[in-house]
Amino acid sequence: MRLTSVNRLVPGDCLARPVYDGEGRVLVGVGVPLTATMIRRLKELGVYALYLEDARTADVVLGDPLAPELRRRAVEVVREVMHRLTEGDEVTKRFVLQKQAASIRGVVNDLVEVVRENPEILQQVADIYTADGFLYHHSVHVAILSIGLGIEAGLTNGQLRDLGIGALLHDVGKLRIAPEILNKPTELTRDEYDLVKRHTTYGYEILQRLDAISIPSAQVALQHHERIDGSGYPLGLKGNEQHLLGRISAIADVYDAMTSHRVYRPGLLPHEAYEHIMAGCGTWYDSELVKIFVRQVAIYPVGQTVRLSTGEVGVVTEIPRGFPQRPRVRVLYDPEGCELAQPFERDLIRELSVVVADVFS
Ligand SMILES: [Fe+2]
Ligand SMILES: [Fe+2]
Repeated sequence: MRLTSVNRLVPGDCLARPVYDGEGRVLVGVGVPLTATMIRRLKELGVYALYLEDARTADVVLGDPLAPELRRRAVEVVREVMHRLTEGDEVTKRFVLQKQAASIRGVVNDLVEVVRENPEILQQVADIYTADGFLYHHSVHVAILSIGLGIEAGLTNGQLRDLGIGALLHDVGKLRIAPEILNKPTELTRDEYDLVKRHTTYGYEILQRLDAISIPSAQVALQHHERIDGSGYPLGLKGNEQHLLGRISAIADVYDAMTSHRVYRPGLLPHEAYEHIMAGCGTWYDSELVKIFVRQVAIYPVGQTVRLSTGEVGVVTEIPRGFPQRPRVRVLYDPEGCELAQPFERDLIRELSVVVADVFS
């Protein structure tokens, strides 16, 4: 399995991981040979990179600890609740949410359990989905990353539940903002950006009125864009004025937002988002939480093609626990770019003089 840009696909290629649609359903399954029409359609739907089956890395598989069924259920509940919360009158909203509250709690409990049992899931949260599903898949990823950080930070089950629910609904306020602005392909004007920033207060207003949602969960919607030096929005909170759940979700949110492909810019590679978070350690982001983050999330995900400092090019096959910056790499090309007849592995945790020098999209 290796990650490859959609532009390099050729008919006959087979996916090694599924592509999901905006409702969390499998759009193209594993092992199905792609046709020219399917490739064109995937590009139209805003898919930018895919995991392909590849003979030289056939044994490299990424377990999907987030079962497709749980992913679909999570995406569906987020989609349903977000829409219900921004449509109709107050009485209907309350009634609908009361009914939905049990499903949200159920999904969050399952996510907490999955992350507890498989901390490796955090190494590679992102999955491939179509552009229309960004808000929902992003919400699920932010919930998983937040829960993972929260578990390591020692939160209680009750706090994890508040965090998970808040993270699933953190961007609900965006549904009150015109899609033309949210998806504008060019740079936002100052006024437009000010409008986008309001999704935090809108989200808080929507959530804090509902009995089924706790105040800490609503704080996640309000505070996920705050930065500990006071440079964030909407309130410019400093240090611990930002709620712990807000500080956790701020890191999870920025990481997933940066690594996701959007209509107005391609996604960054994980190591680029990593550098951003490291650069903001202690100024924008809580340094203790950043330390937890770097231990948990992979800089170079499995399937990523990298160039080593030796000049060799290969694919990441394994990420050692606790050392995400020292992956195991299967070398496929020599420094001159010639394909090796006999690929071999370099274990960067043993070969300390070798580092990842470059990453290919
Ligand atoms: Fe946001
Ligand atoms: Fe977000």
